[in-house]
Amino acid sequence: ATLAVNASGGKPIPDTFFGIFFEEINHAGAGGLWAELVSNRGFEAGGPNTPSNIDPWSIIGDESSIIVSTDRSSPFELNKVALQMVVLCDSQDGNICPAGGVGVYNPGFWGMNIEQGKKYKVILYVRSTGPVNLKVSLTGSNGVGELASTDIILSESDVSDWTKVDTTLEANATNHNSRLQLTTTRKGVIWLDQVSAMPEDTYKGHGFRSELVEMLADLKPRFVRFPGGCFVEGEWLRNAFRWKATVGPWEERPGHFGDVWKYWTDDGLGYFEFLQLAKDLGALPIWVFNNGISHNDQVATSSVLPFVQEALDGIEFARGDPTSKWGSLRAAMGHPEPFDLKYVAIGNEDCGKRNYRGNYLKYYSAIRHAYPDIQLISNCDASSRPLDHPAHMYDYHVYTNANDMFSRAHIFDHALRNGPKAFVSEYAVTGRDAGKGSLLAALAEAGFLIGLEMNSDIVHMISYAPLFVNANDRRWNPDAIVFNSYQLYGTPSYWVQQFFRESSGATVLDTTLNTTSSSSLIASAIAWQNSADEKNYIRIKVVNFGSDTVSLQISIDGLDPKSLQLSGSTKTVLTSANVMDENTFSQPKKVVPTPSRLESAAGQDMNVQLPPHSFTSFDLL
Ligand code: AHR
Repeated sequence: ATLAVNASGGKPIPDTFFGIFFEEINHAGAGGLWAELVSNRGFEAGGPNTPSNIDPWSIIGDESSIIVSTDRSSPFELNKVALQMVVLCDSQDGNICPAGGVGVYNPGFWGMNIEQGKKYKVILYVRSTGPVNLKVSLTGSNGVGELASTDIILSESDVSDWTKVDTTLEANATNHNSRLQLTTTRKGVIWLDQVSAMPEDTYKGHGFRSELVEMLADLKPRFVRFPGGCFVEGEWLRNAFRWKATVGPWEERPGHFGDVWKYWTDDGLGYFEFLQLAKDLGALPIWVFNNGISHNDQVATSSVLPFVQEALDGIEFARGDPTSKWGSLRAAMGHPEPFDLKYVAIGNEDCGKRNYRGNYLKYYSAIRHAYPDIQLISNCDASSRPLDHPAHMYDYHVYTNANDMFSRAHIFDHALRNGPKAFVSEYAVTGRDAGKGSLLAALAEAGFLIGLEMNSDIVHMISYAPLFVNANDRRWNPDAIVFNSYQLYGTPSYWVQQFFRESSGATVLDTTLNTTSSSSLIASAIAWQNSADEKNYIRIKVVNFGSDTVSLQISIDGLDPKSLQLSGSTKTVLTSANVMDENTFSQPKKVVPTPSRLESAAGQDMNVQLPPHSFTSFDLL
């Protein structure tokens, strides 16, 4: 096979081309990216009617020593449920408390990762009928093996009304499966609410789990689409993501049950934090909001205006003047300068639904009027037929098998060129071909992305989905990044994305691929400048989707011979012994790209061997 690359000319790839899509799915945020260690910190997950289930909190002690319940006495108006502990035992009287005391513990999200030498900030709200002597400790999963503790001693007058306790624990040992205990050996009635434990060390001090954000930063995303997907829609509108309930002081947020992915979130990772995350990654935020449509119910277009106002308020929150109504809340949360919100998506996968078009048009005209520079994204696919409504971009989602994904590399070759631009905001190989993240899936996606890169005059943004999975709650397979309380790895699909991180803002070059096995080979070439060394590179990416080694003759025309250098060029290959190979916690690097030096420079003819089932990138200096 031969590949001819024309290095002169080419077409610019949009600066926004490659990004990420974060959805609160698989405990990606709660128990994942958001570093909060306590699950159900406000005791609201059991619902507003008390007494309620306090899961995953559990009781330490038996009925003779403690009675635990909930009531609606919280000081916080939007989350009224609080925990009540009636302590019957006392170290001073006949009913002596068991060793270690009685109380409650929280195991976090399948165990808290507590690390030696690290500090953890614990905040809780407490009230009592008498003096309080409360031990706050981090222990092993069975309550044994204390890692850190402190005693909170408060007088009766201190706690006659709700009081905030703020303390820092430093761990003297490491345990990846720890729990937070709140115990006492003193008789009385104690109420607790809004119990938080955060590692002091988070990404840029903003509450994100550092090593997970670093995986994202390594992708150099130019945008972050958030907070979902189906999470935005909800099975029912009452459970949809509503931004106003996720901002302001964390203690005051009601939290909500995400009924599509079936778990509660305290909404510590709220609208503000998503905007902050995008900023911290140097990426543009793309806010997907509910457009009055869930999976099972819809707001009639005639009644949608309050929802439209909610979206307008959300935009004002993100970028309004700090003196504006919602901009002032953002400023009060510590971010007076506006966030760079330039894109919003009106709904998710709702195109076919009865009220979509009507609702969409209401949002479209209101947002265009108030914020003429904002780019609006429709849910309706405009690749093969024009939209019946105005939009700057349209969403394109694809979940399919490997062969179909690979063949979709050409799906945009004949897409309409004069309408809105395409945002391929969700793509992944799923099902048997993908397992929990196979090489096969990743190669098919690589082929698809090469096709999108060559069509980047019309495809302006791409992002894989889903981004994260907590291995303890796999709601969706596969995902790009797998983690538990302390481990993480990228699936081959994650690593494929790294090959495209330099494409944003690069130039896609003209290429001609001649091959007898055309159905299993695809290639593209870009010219880009590395900001680290300010050198110009040509990157040629080739997927060999077939089961035979392919010999490829690469020639590059149109380069100034003076610009050629012999050293510094590299080849990076993603392959493995078996096409269904996956990474795991025990073998996190089984299928990862392998770089090597290449003794050729751009402009020279190269003869390269492409292993079966492989993705290779040649970076020529
Ligand atoms: O990525 C998982 C889900 O797939 C998203 O929530 C939804 O948009 C799509 O159906």
